[in-house]
Amino acid sequence: MLKHIEWNGRNLRFLDQTRLPLEEYFIETADYRVVAEAIRKLQLRGAPLIGVSAAYGVCLGAIEALGDSRERFFASLEKVDEELRSTRPTAVNLFWALDRMKRIWQTLQARDEAPQKVVEELLEEAHHIAREDEETNEKIARYGAQLFQDGDRILTHCNAGALACSAWGTALGAITWAFVKEGKRVVVYADETRPLLQGARLTAFELWKNDIPVRVICDNMAGFLMARREIDKVIVGADRVARNGDFANKIGTYTVALLAHYHRIPFYVAAPLSSFDPQSPDGSHIPIEERNPEEVLVFNGRRIAPCEVGAKNPAFDVTPGHLVTAFITERGIIRPPYKEHFESLFAQEGG
Ligand code: MRU
Repeated sequence: MLKHIEWNGRNLRFLDQTRLPLEEYFIETADYRVVAEAIRKLQLRGAPLIGVSAAYGVCLGAIEALGDSRERFFASLEKVDEELRSTRPTAVNLFWALDRMKRIWQTLQARDEAPQKVVEELLEEAHHIAREDEETNEKIARYGAQLFQDGDRILTHCNAGALACSAWGTALGAITWAFVKEGKRVVVYADETRPLLQGARLTAFELWKNDIPVRVICDNMAGFLMARREIDKVIVGADRVARNGDFANKIGTYTVALLAHYHRIPFYVAAPLSSFDPQSPDGSHIPIEERNPEEVLVFNGRRIAPCEVGAKNPAFDVTPGHLVTAFITERGIIRPPYKEHFESLFAQEGG
């Protein structure tokens, strides 16, 4: 598995995902602003990876402020936290990870601990977040793989693989586990995922690296393939799951879910509990990121619409929970009714 993010003692080293699949180019930085910008620009992307990267971003900001007075040190941490929080609004993992980091430094500040001690503890927490994500990935991959049979033709949208996480990935982790560990000969259809092509560039890249058969399709081909009974199952990731099972994921997911429902094809969502948002009672509470229209209007460096014409570019959509056959989490496979089942899950987690 490609080690695409690593803490190097003093720097964060990560793969620039915007250059894939043509180039495996790594960025190494000691500057939290570079990490924030990388999250904004999708060099670092995918809900769990955004959380892990932001946690290391806080560490970089804290190390940078070490020479300052105590007061300025903690004021700098507030600034770093704000900057990282402003990068992307939809994936709740970002806020979940930053809340964890903030709890650490606020507790140590109240205890009058020295900045050096704060840095050590923040690093410890960031490593924890990354390790937990690895463990979670493996559990989701194992549970999810149970849902696949030998010969299944599986559709996925965007990239919810190793590149979006710390290890196996979520939706793609389940597919990879079924193929690599259980010898199930599955075939994957990867939606190209306009406008930024995470499916064609990243999902196809990961599957190809693992020798898993994959075919890229344009986003508008899924319905036709489903009508011809060429797709057996759909599995996607999530950026934020609301209390009632509504969830946000890459734009186009909702359309795929509707198509799967119409054609009576199981539609699965694989996501760690860090992507569940107890503060969102339903999907209408999930903030949806609007990105630069240029991402839609310019393709491969060329403008594809008249210069006078604008575009809309919501990066995510919300799929109602009733279209989801099951959620796969590190706690197992969860089936409807989601509201009740999530409630007991949150209660166990203390949320
Ligand atoms: O804009 P992106 O590339 O960060 O969007 C990623 C997705 O929508 C993924 O499906 C989601 O984050 C789950 S990743 C395990």
